[in-house]
Amino acid sequence: MGGAVSAGEDNDELIDHLKEAQYIRSELVEAAFRAIDRADYYLEEFKENAYKDLAWKHGNIHLSAPCIYSEVMEALDLQPGLSFLNLGSGTGYLSSMVGLILGPFGVNHGVELHSDVTEYAKQKLDFFIRTSDSFDKFDFCEPSFVTGNCLEISPGCSQYDRVYCGAGVQKQHEGYMKSLLKVGGVLVMPLEEKPCQSESGKSRLVQLPPPAVRSLQDLARIAIRGTIKKVIHQEAVNKHGNGLQTAPSFNRRRARRRRRMETIVCLDKEVFASRISSPSDDTSCGDLEDEWQDEEVTSPPDPKPEPPVNFLREKVLSLPLPDPLKCYLLYYREK
Ligand SMILES: C[S@@+](CC[C@H](N)C(=O)[O-])C[C@H]1O[C@@H](n2cnc3c(N)ncnc32)[C@H](O)[C@@H]1O
Repeated sequence: MGGAVSAGEDNDELIDHLKEAQYIRSELVEAAFRAIDRADYYLEEFKENAYKDLAWKHGNIHLSAPCIYSEVMEALDLQPGLSFLNLGSGTGYLSSMVGLILGPFGVNHGVELHSDVTEYAKQKLDFFIRTSDSFDKFDFCEPSFVTGNCLEISPGCSQYDRVYCGAGVQKQHEGYMKSLLKVGGVLVMPLEEKPCQSESGKSRLVQLPPPAVRSLQDLARIAIRGTIKKVIHQEAVNKHGNGLQTAPSFNRRRARRRRRMETIVCLDKEVFASRISSPSDDTSCGDLEDEWQDEEVTSPPDPKPEPPVNFLREKVLSLPLPDPLKCYLLYYREK
C-alpha cells in the first residue's frame, strides 16, 4: 500500500510530503516522525527505498507504508504517560516513534510473532538509543518487545490506554482486541484485512512485561535532565529572543485517501466511536522548533552544513561533576 506521497530524498523530505498530503497533522506526530530516520529500520541494501511511501517486506521483516504509520499515529491520539501495546510490533519503528511521545512515565510494549524480527527490533532499538541525538531531545519511553502470538495474550495481563494491531484483524477477533483496552482507551486496527498469522501447533499464552517501577536514581536522572533542558531553552530564548525564524511551510494538497483502518474508543466497555479523523479536522500548527533546530535555521546558509549540536550532551559534559555521574546522566551513550 502507499505511493500517493512523493518520494523524499531524506527523512525530512518524506515527512514534508506526508504533512503536505495531510497524513501528518499534529506537531507531536510530526516531531516523532522527524526524530527517527525510517532508513535506520531497513537492511543496508534496501535503504534507497526508505523515503518512498511504500511498504517493505523482506523475509519476516515487514514495514508498513509511511502514510499508514502517519494515520495510525494521528488516530492513536498519544499523550505523555499513557500505556501502549503494539500487536505485531515488527521492526520496532512505530513503537520507537510512540515512545518519544509517551515520555519517561509511559508504558510501551510490543508483541511480535517471529523471534528473528523481535531480535531485529531489539538491535534497531539499541542502535537508536546508542547513536541518535533524538534520544536526548525527547524523554524516551523505551519499548519492550516479546515474541508470541498477539491472539494469545494471557488474560491476566494488564490493559492499555492505546492498542494498535499492525497485523490484519478478522471480525471474530474484534472483541478480543477490545478486551486489551482500558475504559476510555483507543484501539486502532485494520479490520478484516489479511488475518494475523498464527504458528500452528505452537500455542503458548503470551506474558507481557509487568508494569515497571522506576528507581529513585532513575527518577532523579529524568528530573535533572529535564532541568538542564529548561536551562538550555531559557539560554536559547535569551540569545535569540522569541522572533525565531521557522522552517518553510508547505502548501497543503487535499490528497488523502480513505483506508480501512478502524479507530475504536472504548467508553465504559462500550464501543463509542469508530472512525479515522477527518482531513478537515486540521489541527496542524506551525513547525515545531526546538533549540537544536533554532540553531540551524538562524545560521546563514552554508554549503557544508555542520552536524546538529546536541546541546544537552554539551551542557552535561561542561558541568563540574564527576565523570561517572556525567556518564550516568547521558545514559552511557556514545554520542
Ligand atoms: C505490517 S507489519 C507491522 C510492522 C511494525 N508496525 C513496524 O513498525 O515495523 C505486521 C507485523 O505483525 C506481525 N504479526 C502477524 N501476525 C501476528 C500475530 N498473530 N502475532 C504477533 N505478530 C504478528 C508480523 O510478523 C509483522 O511483523
